[in-house]
Amino acid sequence: MTNTAVGISGFGGYVPERVMTNEEWTQYVDTSDEWIVERTGIHRRRVAADDESTADMATAAARSALESRGIGPEEIDEIIVATDTPEVYTPDTASFVQRKLGAREVPSYDLGGSGCAGFVQAMDVARSRVLTGTRRVLVIGVELITRLVSWKIRETCVLFGDAAAGVIVERGPQMAEILGARTGTDGSQWSILTLEIGGTRKPFSLEYAQKEEHLKLIMEGRAVFRHAVHRMSEVGLDVLEAVGAKLEDVAMIVPHQANLRIVQAVAKNLSVPMEKVYTNLQEYGNTGSASVPLALWEAHSKGRISPGDLVLLTSFGAGFHWGAALLRFTG
Ligand code: UT7
Repeated sequence: MTNTAVGISGFGGYVPERVMTNEEWTQYVDTSDEWIVERTGIHRRRVAADDESTADMATAAARSALESRGIGPEEIDEIIVATDTPEVYTPDTASFVQRKLGAREVPSYDLGGSGCAGFVQAMDVARSRVLTGTRRVLVIGVELITRLVSWKIRETCVLFGDAAAGVIVERGPQMAEILGARTGTDGSQWSILTLEIGGTRKPFSLEYAQKEEHLKLIMEGRAVFRHAVHRMSEVGLDVLEAVGAKLEDVAMIVPHQANLRIVQAVAKNLSVPMEKVYTNLQEYGNTGSASVPLALWEAHSKGRISPGDLVLLTSFGAGFHWGAALLRFTG
């Protein structure tokens, strides 16, 4: 351990109770279980209850992380919530989480709009906050995406699911030391993965509402697929190089759970067998900012990670943004 070690001291997650199968989507759009499984690997996803909100899910995940650390909410010194599907427009979801959780009046803010890369970016920010003196940061990735995308557009609706998950970051190697992180952005690609309506460029209007344009996620699937494979592979290698680790020493890769074919292509690019790649998109679909921490929480809870293991997180999302982090698990 170096005196600059920063680690994850608690893992947590939450998924809504309602399970929605691929078959159920055939009531809403012209699709099939076969198509969804073959093209994405997804079998089912969770859908939040009508009375459940983004902050409710984030708070449940936060409580689970606090429990794993064995501390109460008063022990948290900063809260970062990564989400593209916030509780309300203003203020941010972190304000709601601070109150619902019963945390002290600590700095709390969202990292919004980074799509599925949000959590890794937020964890990297948390790491630097801890290095500059903050004692303990709660980082949550949460998405209630089924409520904000159209259930009439088959190209996108079948891909997503609702979930929340997160970690607590503090000094020391803790349960998993964060050995390094790398993130990046290419804003020139914003228009091929965007939900445009509602900002200052295209303010919400009756006309948009009547056409349900505000629920239309624009996504050029094939192009996004190519960029996702390239960026997740590249940033994964970047972080390994930055910390002087080798790919063959990595015990497990936890990638963003967008599509099994994307994950397989990343594994192939890196020449890593799929046995070393953790996936749970089959059960939850693409849960945006929650995807990487949810998979990490699950892998850890199921005892799939052993002391000493190097675990590589890699993610990609709208923006485009991408990010990777290398963890070394301790005891
Ligand atoms: O988290 C980051 C955000 N998003 C992503 O990472 C997604 C990246 N892209 C993908 O995962 C894939 O491109 C998709 C899963 C979205 C689509 O798979 P694809 O193999 O690239 O299919 P495609 O878009 O080329 O569409 C093939 C066909 C089309 O029909 P035609 O033109 O060949 O007749 C689509 O209209 O499949 C059709 N199609 C569907 N059919 C049944 C598209 N969506 C569906 C659907 N059910 N849900």
